[in-house]
Amino acid sequence: MLATSNIKKTTNILKKVKLEKKKIGFVPTMGALHKGHISLVKKALSECDFVVVSIFVNPIQFSEGEDFNKYPRDLIKDKDLLRELGVDLVFVPDSAIMYSSGHSVYVDENYLSKRLCGLSRPGHFKGVCTVLAKLFNIIGPDTAYFGQKDYQQFLIIKRLVQDLNFNIDLRILPILRDKKGLALSSRNSFLNKEKYIQALCLYRSLQLAKKAFDRGQRISDRLIRIIKDEINKEQSAKIDYVEVVDAQDLKPLRKITSQALVALAVYIDRVRLIDNIILNVKKKKN
Ligand code: PAJ
Repeated sequence: MLATSNIKKTTNILKKVKLEKKKIGFVPTMGALHKGHISLVKKALSECDFVVVSIFVNPIQFSEGEDFNKYPRDLIKDKDLLRELGVDLVFVPDSAIMYSSGHSVYVDENYLSKRLCGLSRPGHFKGVCTVLAKLFNIIGPDTAYFGQKDYQQFLIIKRLVQDLNFNIDLRILPILRDKKGLALSSRNSFLNKEKYIQALCLYRSLQLAKKAFDRGQRISDRLIRIIKDEINKEQSAKIDYVEVVDAQDLKPLRKITSQALVALAVYIDRVRLIDNIILNVKKKKN
């Protein structure tokens, strides 16, 4: 496995790979890799000839007071894992390289970013769009892989690719969960045993909403109530948001008539966790 933190070196390696007409797959990450990340890497390896993984804890997608400094980092373990999987190149730039002094161009999505996580994390998606525009330009992948865990992020990246004419196919892959249903996340390492048990309320509440939906409940407020009631049973859980929105434009839905995203963000003490499910109304056959 090649490993580099140098932009020029990375583009030179990839220039050669492109000349060989190899299909390049790209998995952007912030490291502290878990099975969710690995599922993306494995998919990329199965579909592409040359797979690049980036590891970069992007400072500009964290606001002041968020967990940038505390964000889990384990580069040695991550690299070992990627090497074992058969990844071709790991790109690990540092902040000074990605944001050299005087850096003043940012990429901002102006519609989807104003909803859900965008409201409680102003500037977050601007940081995500900017770093991905840079990484896409540096790596020039044919296909890039993302997780449904960050569904809003994926929709925003789709817009970024469409609006700025990046010639990249995007793939979204399902949320990987642990045995008890908690969506895997690098931030789960902040949870002690007691908090971990409390964090299970996120998925449990989504499952309760799904059950109600399967029994015919289509009114968003009712589903939101079910979720909030379940989460509020946990002492250290504090709801940031629970929403039922259109799965394409993220507009709040009063009633579910086609495809809806049920998304939530909850603090377990100081750890902010997100999760979601997609609900589909089956069209009646004539
Ligand atoms: P990070 O949180 O490291 O996630 C990298 C990718 O892994 C994202 O596409 C995310 O949706 C996916 N992922 C995380 N948890 C997952 C799970 N449990 N199951 C499946 N996929 C999962 O998202 C970011 O980094 C950053 O914002 C980034 C896109 C790298 C830009 O800095």
